[in-house]
Amino acid sequence: MRKPVIAGNWKMHKLVAESVATALALRPLVANANHCEVIIAPVFTALKTVADRLEGSNIRIAAQDCAPEAKQGAHTGEVSAEMLRDAGATHVIIGHSERRQFYGETDAFVLRKTQAALQSGLTAIVCVGEMLEQREAGMAESVVRAQLEGGMRELTPSDLDRIIIAYEPVWAIGTGRTATPEQAQEMHAFVRRVLSERFSTAASDALRILYGGSVKPDNAAGLMKQADIDGALVGGASLEAESFANIINYNQ
Ligand code: 13P
Repeated sequence: MRKPVIAGNWKMHKLVAESVATALALRPLVANANHCEVIIAPVFTALKTVADRLEGSNIRIAAQDCAPEAKQGAHTGEVSAEMLRDAGATHVIIGHSERRQFYGETDAFVLRKTQAALQSGLTAIVCVGEMLEQREAGMAESVVRAQLEGGMRELTPSDLDRIIIAYEPVWAIGTGRTATPEQAQEMHAFVRRVLSERFSTAASDALRILYGGSVKPDNAAGLMKQADIDGALVGGASLEAESFANIINYNQ
């Protein structure tokens, strides 16, 4: 059985005090959520403080990005996966569409970052997803296939144990236009098929695939009912403790 994962990507929101306040408000609301893994991804500057304040809770911490270089060195502005782990992160989001779109990240870059994350003992949440024009041109599957093949090219089947895939159609992010559960399910099944061809059926059957893009308390349960949807990567609705807790507790 794949244990669901519900992760909140706070993107570039919240000062340290606000991050702590949201995290502490969330903590009791999800204390009984044993049916899934709960993750929040604060900004770099709040990561350690939030991790410290959540010690002993069932909430894990993700960073939103990491350097492609695993070793310390002359890389101004970068933060390594090892440093993130040292600060209390267990996971790192890699290749989010905002990084691909606005900061030029390529599949090759995503691969290097994923390798750096795995080398440092972090679980990588690797994001894929097509743009609206690509979907409308009937290219959604080929785009996602290329992202998976390019971004996971040098990985081994055992690496898959510490990888979570997030399918986030770009047209659904921050737009209020969620993919229907059926549309999402179709792509999730496709992702699993591509990875089973590339790795093994056993490895791809065990892999968690999260859906992201306008997940809200009122659509989470419908998405989570789908056979290949193993959780959610939530943006806007994770910024507020109560709405994020309502998504996490979708089963109630
Ligand atoms: P929204 O939930 O705000 O659409 O954002 C999704 C996302 O990009 C999570 O990484």
